Amino acid sequence: MSGEHGQLLGGLPAPVRRSLLAVLVVAVAVASDACDASVGDAAALAAAVKRAGSDACFCSFDKRPACVGRTSVVAVTADIALAAPVHIPFNASVSLVGPHAISGAGDHGLFVTFGQLALSGLRLADGNAMGTGGAEGCGTIAIFGACGGCVDVKPTGSLAVSDASFERCAANHSGGAIYAYLSEVTLRNVSFARTSAGVGGGAIAIWGGEATIVASTFVGTQSSFTGGALCCAKSNCSVSRSLFRSTSAGEGGGAVAFEGGGSGGYGPAARSLELEDTVFEGTAANHYGGAVLVSGGAVAAVGVTFDRCAAAVGGAVHLESSKGYSGVSPIESDLDLRRCTFSSCRATTGDGGGVNVVSAGRVTLGPGLVFRGNVAETGGGGGAYLRNISESLVVRDAVFAENRCRSRGGGLFVEFQAPKPRVECARCPVEIDPYSRQPCAYAKNGTWRSWDVSSDVAVVGSTFVGNEANFSAGGLGVTGGARMALEDTSFHRNSARISVPRP
Ligand SMILES: *[C@@H]1O[C@H](CO)[C@@H](O)[C@H](O)[C@H]1NC(C)=O
Ligand SMILES: *[C@@H]1O[C@H](CO)[C@@H](O)[C@H](O)[C@H]1NC(C)=O
Ligand SMILES: *[C@@H]1O[C@H](CO)[C@@H](O)[C@H](O)[C@H]1NC(C)=O
Ligand SMILES: *[C@@H]1O[C@H](CO)[C@@H](O)[C@H](O)[C@H]1NC(C)=O
Ligand SMILES: *[C@@H]1O[C@H](CO)[C@@H](O)[C@H](O)[C@H]1NC(C)=O
Ligand SMILES: *[C@@H]1O[C@H](CO)[C@@H](O)[C@H](O)[C@H]1NC(C)=O
Ligand SMILES: *[C@@H]1O[C@H](CO)[C@@H](O)[C@H](O)[C@H]1NC(C)=O
Repeated sequence: MSGEHGQLLGGLPAPVRRSLLAVLVVAVAVASDACDASVGDAAALAAAVKRAGSDACFCSFDKRPACVGRTSVVAVTADIALAAPVHIPFNASVSLVGPHAISGAGDHGLFVTFGQLALSGLRLADGNAMGTGGAEGCGTIAIFGACGGCVDVKPTGSLAVSDASFERCAANHSGGAIYAYLSEVTLRNVSFARTSAGVGGGAIAIWGGEATIVASTFVGTQSSFTGGALCCAKSNCSVSRSLFRSTSAGEGGGAVAFEGGGSGGYGPAARSLELEDTVFEGTAANHYGGAVLVSGGAVAAVGVTFDRCAAAVGGAVHLESSKGYSGVSPIESDLDLRRCTFSSCRATTGDGGGVNVVSAGRVTLGPGLVFRGNVAETGGGGGAYLRNISESLVVRDAVFAENRCRSRGGGLFVEFQAPKPRVECARCPVEIDPYSRQPCAYAKNGTWRSWDVSSDVAVVGSTFVGNEANFSAGGLGVTGGARMALEDTSFHRNSARISVPRP
């Protein structure tokens, strides 16, 4: 490159050569792209974003889709302190590229986007959505600037963030760092620290949209009500290869709150929450679900670890179907956990040291599930407490080890609402344990093999070892109108203070 320029300008004196070269370089840059820019201060940034929405860079809205706009790439060449939020016009597509910081003064947001905004290699900090307003858990009404402390994504907009961090972003209502309403958010390698929300989603709140979160970390983010890190309402959210550490919520979902039910005219479509290869560590909620709170919608977790999560009820996960109310249909929750580990999680004043299900459609635990060392300090189900499951429960290839509880079901307790217990024990093999004549699920100890009945509950290929209930059902307890199949499942060293269930 420099060699060619050397030949071309070779006959000229050095200073002339240098200035000609500079002009040439600028001219080439301008000619190749008036829409791209380098910005080093707030005014230049605002101008570049405005230009991105002009005819030159993006087609007018009414000419779409025949005329497609382009993305303006704006290189951020210095740290920028904003005096006011930057508004991305609905007709713009802007990609801001670091590495540098963009910060607010702690009393206003950084970006409000009606268009397509991409942020990469940037440190975003000190944004605050201080307004009032917001109607639901994740803030349906965001028009008063109470949501999205650093970035507010409007229905015509979208947000893609990569290799970036958010710090000290706060929202009076929802989405400490990011709020997205009827829009799409994609994050890759993004870290959140010290972000908070007055109501839902300490880092991110999304309502009626789609969120995809990959390889990201949430540390110490918090919300006063639900979703210490993420509040996902009427939305489909997926989180993979990410970490939630020490995030917390005042009410429920120390890390994630998912409200998958329909409302507000957006219909009863069941939304989904997908968690994959992700770790929840030391997350906490004052009431429900130390890591995850679910009301309505389908939850699938694969390869997820919940370690030392705590809440009053449902140490790691608390799940219920959403209730119907005027004009809104109830939505059942489904729970599907595979290759997940729950370790040392605690329910401090209720049921479900690891998982507490209040009501659900279908629950599948396993294959490859481990509940170890979880505690329901005053309630039942040291590992998990499951009740009111309307469709089916399958526990497959799961290990319940060293869990404990105060009342019933040291490892697992299942409670159905139907009229009478129908646990079928007639075909139980004879056991060593003298209590085997009791409904088998209540036995203190014992080993069942190939006891197969078509049933509502199937426990297959699982192990219950060293669990302890201070009332009944050391390993596994079942009550209510379920028929039950136990197959290749073993029970060792489980203990309960009594072995006979109360009638
Ligand atoms: C883009 O939107 C802005 C307002 O948001 C408007 O002023 C401008 O004319 C629009 N440009 C085009 C090309 O539509
Ligand atoms: C936050 O919102 C609440 C009600 O939505 C309001 O009472 C309060 O004043 C707001 N706080 C600030 C700092 O605006
Ligand atoms: C993730 O983003 C950080 C900047 O926040 C960067 O330093 C790091 O290299 C990125 N990691 C990967 C794997 O791209
Ligand atoms: C979420 O997924 C469901 C099922 O695939 C779909 O019907 C719905 O439109 C998606 N988006 C939202 C915002 O609910
Ligand atoms: C069981 O759950 C269903 C919804 O799945 C709900 O309608 C019903 O009221 C629940 N029953 C009890 C006793 O909680
Ligand atoms: C529990 O069952 C195991 C396996 O059958 C047996 O080895 C052990 O002695 C039993 N323990 C008690 C206390 O019955
Ligand atoms: C077990 O129950 C007894 C009687 O209710 C109580 O005294 C004891 O403290 C309980 N132990 C534990 C570990 O909860």
